[in-house]
Parts: sequence; C-alpha cells; structure tokens
Amino acid sequence: MKHLLKLLDLSKEDIIDILNTADQLKYEQKRGIPHKHLEGKTLGMIFQKSSTRTRVSFETGMYQLGGMALFLSSKDLQIGRGEDVEDTARVLSRYIDAIMIRTFEQKEVEDLAKYGSIPVINGLTDFCHPCQVLADLMTIREYKGMFEGLKMCYIGDGNNMANSLIVGGLKVGMDVSVAVPKDYTPHQDVLDFAKNYKGFELTDDIYKAAKNADVLITDVWASMGQEDEAQMRKEIFKHYQINEELLKVAAEDAMVLHCLPAHKGEEITKDVFEDHAKEIFEEAENRLHAQKAVLVKLIK
Ligand code: CP
Ligand code: NVA
Repeated sequence: MKHLLKLLDLSKEDIIDILNTADQLKYEQKRGIPHKHLEGKTLGMIFQKSSTRTRVSFETGMYQLGGMALFLSSKDLQIGRGEDVEDTARVLSRYIDAIMIRTFEQKEVEDLAKYGSIPVINGLTDFCHPCQVLADLMTIREYKGMFEGLKMCYIGDGNNMANSLIVGGLKVGMDVSVAVPKDYTPHQDVLDFAKNYKGFELTDDIYKAAKNADVLITDVWASMGQEDEAQMRKEIFKHYQINEELLKVAAEDAMVLHCLPAHKGEEITKDVFEDHAKEIFEEAENRLHAQKAVLVKLIK
C-alpha cells in the first residue's frame, strides 16, 4: 500500500491490517506507552474545504507519533492561484514525507499521487471519505467484535460517505443495504463493484434497508460544496431520517453511527443522536487512531 486514495484500491487484508494497528495504537495511547514511530517526519495537510475532525486528528496524530503536521490552506498556497497539481506534488515531495488532502475532485488526489513521490492520503473528496470509514469499521469491530454476518444500513444521500461505506463494509464481509432517493444513488464505479456481492442491496425504502440492521449510518443531506442546493435537498431527503420508528425494525442492539457534523432534526433526530452519542463520539475519536495507523503504514 503506497497511498490511501480510495478504499476501492485496498484489499480486505490491507483494511484489517490498518484496523489491527489502530487498535494497538489506541491501546498504547490510552496507557501512555510511547509510540513515536514517525520521529522527524512531516505531514503536509492541504485543505480546500472546512474541517474540525480531520484537521485536528491528523495534526494531533502526527505529534503523538513524534512527527509534525503543516496546515496548508489552499487560500494561501499557490495552488489556490492556479499553480498546477503536477508541480505542487513535485515540490512538496522535496520537503515533506506525506500529503493529506481534502478537496472536491477525486482526480486532484489521484494526480498528486501520480506526479509526487511521497504517500498521499485522501482526507475527503466528493467521491469518497476513506479515513472516516476506516474509523467507522474500527468502531463497529470494537462494539460487535467481528464483521461477518453483520448488516450495515446507510440512509440518505448517495454521497462520498455512502461510496466509502459500501466499499469498506462489503470488503470486510458485512452485508450492506443502502436507501437513497432515486436520483441520488452512489457513484457508478461503486455500484459496479458492489454488484458482485450478494449481500449488497440498493433501495429507496428506508424500512427495507434498516430491517434487522446491526449498524445504521447516515450523513448530512447537503455536503460541503452543495450549500446552494440545501433548501431543495431538505424537501427531497425529508423521509431519509434515522428516528425511533426506523430503529424499531433494526436489530435490538443496533448501533447508530454518524461521521459528523450532524444536522439534528434532519438526517437524524436529536433523541436518537443522544441515545447513541457514546458510539458516535467513539467513532469520532477513532479517526485519530485509524489515521495514525495509516500514517505509520505509509510513512514509516
Ligand atoms: N467527519 C469529518 O470528516 O469531519 P470534519 O469535516 O470535521 O473533518
Ligand atoms: N458528506 C459530507 C461529509 C462530511 C464529513 C461532506 O462531504 O460534506
């Protein structure tokens, strides 16, 4: 594994290996056991979109690993004034040891990897959010102890989160049911991948998708960059909500996850959110541990 560009590039073994390292790093961090695997190493973090979790967990993670992280806002970089990705990649490769990038187009992330000579980590694009889903899988395994035989249900927009959850969930052996409105389906590349799995289901019926689900997951109705459509999307997605009614058809001990930020009262009710806050904030914490595992795998 040279980069983390999208989960489609990873094998089941790669994913399990990252999760095992993440568990180990979490264990060490909780007990104050030093794990400075990246002493003297530097991560550059390019952000073309806002972030709380991704920025803080990568920055803190590098520090805990003995290295350092540089926050590079696209507003300040020459990339924001038109310098091409090809040259940016070749220059940054001379200074730092890895790049984390959050941007719009998946192609920009793939191009950084193509033209640079250092590992590239996707911190979210319009296509996918692999770091988040590694943390989600880590949290599911922590709570449920395994993946095989579990059903994951995703409700909402067929967006970056849906794309990564489908690929990640199926690769580790879960069944994955996705309920989205007809014109908001996941990416075709993801559907082409998923059609080979018997355990994949795509529907517009949230109750069908949630039936006997062990893990229910949702995400915002309007993602970053879709602010102009937010009003229209509220109407389209109004029935795509995780609420008490929906939980009644899920497994009795079903977990609820949300990558955050959440819009309570929209994709999830406040009551359900608060009832499941323990696992949702464990999921947020696990961004730190899962990403540290990715950094160690790619840079060490
Ligand atoms: N879930 C997530 O990626 O959060 P941020 O946008 O705050 O980084
Ligand atoms: N789908 C959301 C995820 C945020 C972490 C977005 O892209 O804004």
